[in-house]
Amino acid sequence: MMNFRRLEGSCLLVVFSLTAVSCQVQVEGFPGGEVLLPCIYRRGGLPQGGPNVFWRDKDDSIVLDIKANKADTSLQNKKFTGRVETFPEFYPKGNFSIVIKKLQEADSGPYECNIPAVDYAFRVKLTVSGRRVAMTTPRPGPAGGAAEGLSSILLTLLSVLLSARHVL
Ligand SMILES: *[C@@H]1O[C@H](CO)[C@@H](O)[C@H](O)[C@H]1NC(C)=O
Repeated sequence: MMNFRRLEGSCLLVVFSLTAVSCQVQVEGFPGGEVLLPCIYRRGGLPQGGPNVFWRDKDDSIVLDIKANKADTSLQNKKFTGRVETFPEFYPKGNFSIVIKKLQEADSGPYECNIPAVDYAFRVKLTVSGRRVAMTTPRPGPAGGAAEGLSSILLTLLSVLLSARHVL
């Protein structure tokens, strides 16, 4: 419940900045490929020496922990062993994005990047589909099916506006 509340907060923020109307970023990959799961915190106030950042998957399995600017894989779930890349050079910028490699269909589902120190949680929904795109790395974001993405954004925007009218 707490998590949901936090997510709601960050949703409102993206709604108003109109960069993404959905509170959940969607990324796509294909079996054997790799994909970037973004987690960028820009609002400042991160603790000196680096915050704890917890990446979890749909089963609440440990994908990666980042503690004091260091990746900690000691408690990482075996299914992610050797498959998660992290970028310490970006931590000081609040960028805790990871790359998951050697994707499997079972990796599909929601992922959450949680930074308790600043009460931040970010959700990314990963879809690993059987369709193979030879030798290309899928890009994050709504790259595939622009028209489809646009109409779902419009629909979401409409429902946001309608529900906002109830609130105001
Ligand atoms: C965050 O880090 C990832 C991984 O290195 C990088 O690909 C991405 O461009 C960075 N994003 C920003 C906004 O700095």
